[in-house]
Amino acid sequence: MGIVCPVYSLGVPLIVADFVKNADLSAAEYVFVILTYGAYPGAVEDMIYNIMEAAGRAPDYVTKVKMADNYLPVFNPPTGEKLESLMRSARQGFEVAAHEIHEKQKKVPHSFFIHKLMGRIVYRSMKGDALDKEFHADPTCNGCGTCEKVCPVKNITIEQERPVWHHHCESCFACIHHCPEKAIQFGSKTRGKGRYRNPEVSLKDLMRKS
Ligand SMILES: Cc1cc2nc3c(=O)[nH]c(=O)nc-3n(C[C@H](O)[C@H](O)[C@H](O)COP(=O)(O)O)c2cc1C
Ligand code: SF4
Ligand code: SF4
Repeated sequence: MGIVCPVYSLGVPLIVADFVKNADLSAAEYVFVILTYGAYPGAVEDMIYNIMEAAGRAPDYVTKVKMADNYLPVFNPPTGEKLESLMRSARQGFEVAAHEIHEKQKKVPHSFFIHKLMGRIVYRSMKGDALDKEFHADPTCNGCGTCEKVCPVKNITIEQERPVWHHHCESCFACIHHCPEKAIQFGSKTRGKGRYRNPEVSLKDLMRKS
């Protein structure tokens, strides 16, 4: 049994934290976790280990792999050779992890206190009901509905050909990154910046099936 998820705000995405708290993993013979991150992951490996241990089944193996940082308010996503080089390293990271998981290796995290402290402070900023208050669409929005379809939690509906956010956001940034018109902004911090999609994932892969 495995969980592969990104790092948000130096921690585990709220939807993933809820999932592992409520999942019954007691029968799983071996449990692994791979966390993908951009610039700085804090002590996220310890965080997911502790959440799962408290829920009754600590993971056997936890690792992290560096990817592009898609937190658009702070970073401008890499392109060209920089992105390709990041993806090459990421693939190597996943190959190492796949090999170690295949051998059912044990890997228990031990982060330094300073990273745990940073994580505790920054993670508190994640509050589901307020996360989408800064999203809005520019006049270039054509009402295509892609943002509605890529939102994993149905937090967006299209009303009068414009997206409306409903304040139960997971802060995945799928809507802003995959709008074909680059019409979605997060406050004033994303204007003029690029948008990012993992080169190994298609828009179709990201669309909700229902
Ligand atoms: C809301 C949000 C918060 C993020 N916070 C962090 C963070 O605290 N530390 C970090 O290293 N990366 C952070 N990231 C970056 C993502 O973890 C990273 O871009 C992602 O794992 C890339 O995976 P992908 O290439 O499969 O999309 C954040 C991304 C988003 C959207
Ligand atoms: S994806 Fe972009 S263009 Fe399409 S409806 Fe949403 S904001 Fe408008
Ligand atoms: S797609 Fe947009 S609205 Fe939906 S959870 Fe992700 S960030 Fe929030």
